[in-house]
Amino acid sequence: MRFRSFPQFNQPGLGEVAGSKSRLSAATLRHFTSERMADRLARALGRAGSMPIKELVESFEFFERVRSLLRAPVVADLMCGHGLVGALFAVFEPNVKQVLLVDRRRPANHDALLESLGRVAPWAPPRLRYLEGNLDLCAAEPIEAMVAVHACGHRTDACLDLALERGAQVAVMPCCYGPPREASPALMAGLGTELATDVARTYRLESAGYRVRWRSIPPEVTPMGRILVAQKGSSLQKGPLSV
Ligand SMILES: C[S@@+](CC[C@H](N)C(=O)[O-])C[C@H]1O[C@@H](n2cnc3c(N)ncnc32)[C@H](O)[C@@H]1O
Repeated sequence: MRFRSFPQFNQPGLGEVAGSKSRLSAATLRHFTSERMADRLARALGRAGSMPIKELVESFEFFERVRSLLRAPVVADLMCGHGLVGALFAVFEPNVKQVLLVDRRRPANHDALLESLGRVAPWAPPRLRYLEGNLDLCAAEPIEAMVAVHACGHRTDACLDLALERGAQVAVMPCCYGPPREASPALMAGLGTELATDVARTYRLESAGYRVRWRSIPPEVTPMGRILVAQKGSSLQKGPLSV
């Protein structure tokens, strides 16, 4: 599978760098030399030394695969951690007016992200709002699209519950599977817990009127790279199914 945001990692032998847990730093900046926004942000983050390479690549590659399917003026990045995934909507999507970043704990590297964005994409930070707390904070917000990357286990389902409740478009990249909330024992035995859980999630979304697509990011970044993107009603866009 090809890297889209960081094509340099498609070169033989470089894919492993993309999954490295080493922090972006002066020593690793040789991998990010172009004038493309992804590389410029990598260099800015590298100066702050605040984020592992894997987190940067994971966020960009996820964003690249869902951005055309999630069109809304207000987007929420749930269980966002540093908030880079949500921030990319503010960087690249001019029609996004506000991005809500929701996490029970705002980590220090979010501030480093804001500072780095201020250098290379100064239009983005004013459109970000960090809500420190749980998903209840979303109740009064006019969110029409949501993302949740590695929200962990049942928290992915909590994000899907919220999207279903609000009729919002949603994209999740699940991790830490099981025990599943609703997968059938037969499917779990036949397909394994992870696949059976995502199949059950897909049926649940489809039975609520969503069109669901499966996508994935390159396995060199993470073995937990499956993405479920769900669109509803007028937001539907045609596109091929891909895993
Ligand atoms: C594995 S991290 C993923 C962070 C980020 N999405 C990423 O991909 O790097 C899971 C995040 O969920 C947050 N979290 C856990 N339980 C939560 C809750 N009940 N409400 C809000 N955030 C929560 C944690 O603080 C943590 O930042």
